[in-house]
Amino acid sequence: MSFSPEWLRLREPADHRSRDKALLAKAASHLAGKDEPVIYDLGAGAGSNLRGTALALGTRQRWVLVDYDPALLSASLDFLSAWADKSRPTAAGLELEKSNKLVRVEVKRADLNANPAPWGDSIPDLVTSAALFDLVSENWIDRFCAALAKDKLALYTTLVHDKTAKWSPTHDADKQMTEAFERDFGKEKGFGPSAGNKAIGLIGKKLKALGYDAELADSDWILGPEDHALIEALAEGWANAVRETRSVPESVIQSWLAARKARGTTCIVGHKDLLALPR
Ligand SMILES: C[S@@+](CC[C@H](N)C(=O)[O-])C[C@H]1O[C@@H](n2cnc3c(N)ncnc32)[C@H](O)[C@@H]1O
Repeated sequence: MSFSPEWLRLREPADHRSRDKALLAKAASHLAGKDEPVIYDLGAGAGSNLRGTALALGTRQRWVLVDYDPALLSASLDFLSAWADKSRPTAAGLELEKSNKLVRVEVKRADLNANPAPWGDSIPDLVTSAALFDLVSENWIDRFCAALAKDKLALYTTLVHDKTAKWSPTHDADKQMTEAFERDFGKEKGFGPSAGNKAIGLIGKKLKALGYDAELADSDWILGPEDHALIEALAEGWANAVRETRSVPESVIQSWLAARKARGTTCIVGHKDLLALPR
C-alpha cells in the first residue's frame, strides 16, 4: 500500500496536536537515563513521527527511519532538513540540530511484513511508529510482539485508527458510506488480513500477556473548519475506498462527497496511542 508525501504532510499538524502528551512524556521518561538513545521508527514515511517526538526527548538522539517506500524515505530527508535549525548530510542520512537537540538520522529500506524486527542485532532503546498498526494482521502482531518481548524492547506508537469517523452535519448516506468504508478498511494491506480498528487493542493485550505494562490513550483527530483541506482529502479518500467496494451507487457517493467538502463540515476520527514497557 502506498501513501503520498503530500497526504502525510497534510495530516502532520493534526497528527502532532492529537497525540496524547502525557503518554509521550512517559515515553520520554523511559529514555531519560540514556546518553544517545537509539529509536527505530517503523513505517516512518516522510519522518512526521520524528518531528512530533524528538522535541520531547533528551538532547542527543539517534533515529533509524524504516520504510519500504524509497520515495518517502527520500522525502523524509528533505522534510527533516527543512524542519531543522541546521542540517548536515552524513553517510547514513543526516545530522540535525533543532531547538538545542542533536538528532542523528539514518534511513533504512525494509519490508516490515517480511521482517517485523528490522533492527536485527543492533537492539534499540525504543521502537516507535505512527499511523502504521491499523494496516497489519493479527498474525503479524503475534510475530512483532514476540520479537519485542525477546529483547524486552519498549514500544511507543501513536495515531492508530481504532474507530470509524463521525461526520457532521449528518447526511442520509452516512450509514451506507461508513459500512462500505469499514469493509474496505478491513482489507489486506500487505501484512495479511488487516486487524484494522482492533489492532491497537490486540497489541496491548498481547504485550501484557508477554510481561509488559501497556497503557492506551486517545489521540482522536478533532477536525474543524480550520482543517478544511484535510477534511476534503479525507472525504476524497473515503469516496475512493467506497468506490472500490462497488456497493454504493456513484450518485450517492457524489452527493455525500459534495456535502462533506462543503465549508462547515467537521469530523472526528478515532485513534489510540500506546506505550508498552517491559516489567
Ligand atoms: C499511514 S503511513 C504513516 C507514515 C508516518 N509514520 C506518518 O505518521 O506520517 C504508513 C507508512 O507505512 C509504510 N509501510 C506500509 N507497509 C509497509 C511495509 N510492509 N514495510 C515497510 N513500510 C510499510 C508506508 O510506506 C507508509 O510510509
